Amino acid sequence: MSISRLLYVTEDIDRKPIPASAFVLLPYNKPDPNKPLNTLVWTHGTAGWGRKCAPSNHKDLYYEWQGPYALATAGYAVIAPDYAGQGSDIPQGFMYEAGFLHAADVAYGLIAARQVIGELLSKEYVVVGHSEGGMTAWRTNERLALPGQENLLKAGKFIGSVANSPALRPLDLIPESIRRANGGPIGDAVSVFFLQSLAGLFPGQFKVEDYVTDTVLARIPLVNQGCLLSGRALFAGLTADQLFKDLSWLKHPLVVDWQKRYNGAGPHALAAPLLVVQGIEDPLTYANNTEWDFNQTCSHFPDSRATLLLYPGADHNVAAQVPQLDYLKWIADRFAGVKVSKGCEIREVETVTTRYRNVGAFYSGAGGG
Ligand SMILES: *[C@@H]1O[C@H](CO)[C@@H](O)[C@H](O)[C@H]1NC(C)=O
Ligand SMILES: *[C@@H]1O[C@H](CO)[C@@H](O)[C@H](O)[C@H]1NC(C)=O
Repeated sequence: MSISRLLYVTEDIDRKPIPASAFVLLPYNKPDPNKPLNTLVWTHGTAGWGRKCAPSNHKDLYYEWQGPYALATAGYAVIAPDYAGQGSDIPQGFMYEAGFLHAADVAYGLIAARQVIGELLSKEYVVVGHSEGGMTAWRTNERLALPGQENLLKAGKFIGSVANSPALRPLDLIPESIRRANGGPIGDAVSVFFLQSLAGLFPGQFKVEDYVTDTVLARIPLVNQGCLLSGRALFAGLTADQLFKDLSWLKHPLVVDWQKRYNGAGPHALAAPLLVVQGIEDPLTYANNTEWDFNQTCSHFPDSRATLLLYPGADHNVAAQVPQLDYLKWIADRFAGVKVSKGCEIREVETVTTRYRNVGAFYSGAGGG
């Protein structure tokens, strides 16, 4: 494969230009020498805070075989935007879980890539991502159906998205994780990233120190030296009482408004077919929550062309990989022009055996930082 890195211009919540970064991964050869490469936009999951965690700047190109390596190996051109504020410095900082804005990063990242390697890229494109990126794949499908998105529509012909284990609405997921922990360790690093992001977006109005314990405050300088796995090591073993001194931020008007405008929580109509893949045993983005949002889309917009596949026994990291078999087929069908009929379908995948356990595999590239 070959990799290129780029800087491009995307937009903030006020539609003002801001810089962002991305990488492009191209396969070794073309599946069809006479045609451009079918084009995917890979939307990454939670990476961590700051530049060093931006996928384009990370030796594992977050998230390695869970996404970009597998997609490029399957013969696709992969455009992989870092979300604005992650690979480049902007006053707003790292805008975690801001799906409505990440959708713009998807479109403008692809538009920028076309400026240089346009002749290699198909006009049609599919967006695929996991976790924060699964949410982004879903939000892109929604944002492209909203009015006023002409500039984003210049990215090409959007023909569908794959939302894997989507982290859709943090204000529902975080209380659910606290409830399920039942006083024990929550397994949560994401709230700390989220609180840091809110503080960056609303300076002076929202302060991390108002809501987290001294334990968390003391560890924030450490977590910001590493990325997601450091965050897990530092925070996942803490209970709700050890993490938070006050949970009122989950109802703070700025945060509630954030979920509508920055995260883009709907339900909204879809611009193209949507495939959602979700592990039933996911302890981070819950199958019930994903299915609930899926149902909201389907009941408000019965003309949606949407499928939800549920994976028995799979947790968040295992579900990053096991659905590749199904979603690569789904993506190939979209490029082949196979129609998806109107309506929604929910199906549980049948496993070959029940003798498996959850072992999420993270591949770590050698060398680099
Ligand atoms: C499922 O998720 C929805 C939306 O977050 C929530 O309102 C509902 O209470 C959940 N149901 C169960 C059984 O957890
Ligand atoms: C979603 O809709 C299906 C079909 O109507 C229903 O069986 C299921 O219980 C719903 N799930 C949730 C979480 O609301």
